Amino acid sequence: MKQKRKIGRNVPCPCGSGKKYKRCCGGPQADPSKMVAVDYMQRYGIRLKQAVDVEAIRKAGRLALATLDLVEQHLRPGMSTDEINTLVHDYTLAQGAVPAPLNYRGFPKSVCVSINEVICHGIPGERRIEAGDIVNVDVTPILDGYYADVNKTFFAGEPSAEARKIVSVAAQCLRAGIEMVEPGNTLGDIGWAIQRHAEGQECSVVREFVGHGVGFAFHEPPQVPHFGQRHEGIKMVPGMVFTIEPMINLGGVSLRILDDKWTAVTADRSLSAQFEQTVVVTEAGVESLTPYPLP
Ligand code: MF3
Ligand code: CO
Ligand code: CO
Repeated sequence: MKQKRKIGRNVPCPCGSGKKYKRCCGGPQADPSKMVAVDYMQRYGIRLKQAVDVEAIRKAGRLALATLDLVEQHLRPGMSTDEINTLVHDYTLAQGAVPAPLNYRGFPKSVCVSINEVICHGIPGERRIEAGDIVNVDVTPILDGYYADVNKTFFAGEPSAEARKIVSVAAQCLRAGIEMVEPGNTLGDIGWAIQRHAEGQECSVVREFVGHGVGFAFHEPPQVPHFGQRHEGIKMVPGMVFTIEPMINLGGVSLRILDDKWTAVTADRSLSAQFEQTVVVTEAGVESLTPYPLP
């Protein structure tokens, strides 16, 4: 985006000082070392995070990971996806947080549960998990006003060779993406690394859904595509917080949205898997705020 956004003179300064913009980076005694925050807001609408913000997102991230652990403990064939919703909903509230998906743009439940051919945004309901299914669970709690977004794909019962393959390729894709995160690299580098890995394993990368800025809201600028070109796109700087969440199909790249307006499925009904973490760009490189081991 070439166009610059105008920052109101009386709004809190993008640099995070807590002062009005006109009395800080928008004023005569602006500190040049803080201008990157102003620049990223003006050029891209990206709100860089301060250390206190990162700590709060880390805390939301710990809750999100504990929620996924709870679901994993209870996951079994025969369970309905609505039972997963109840677990996530009740646990989130008990921890003093709010599930971000609930009523988000009309989404009716507190978690996304996406089985087998479902790429993402599966709405919990009557569908029952069967032995051999792959089940993605995507949780986003809002804790003290901060959002952390994380998902994993689990096996229920004994997985087929195909199920093992797509789940392992998707996890490796997230790892390849995270490995590209460091100041000076671009968002295109992340997408390039993911696409190269997926297509090298003869899998395909979903285009319609992308990673995103997160922390102050569920979905913030920038978009983080899981495909792309080296050296293209926005340059990463410390304080950027965003998700990487590649959706990888065993078959073709095309998708359909079901009549519920949310559920995205592979057009060829092939298996699709996804892993997501929320990361922050640091001076040293990257820190995951929702860390779990990746192959
Ligand atoms: N958690 C999803 C993501 O990773 C977004 C789900 S939107 C919802 O961005 F409304 F379906 F919850
Ligand atoms: Co996300
Ligand atoms: Co998510």
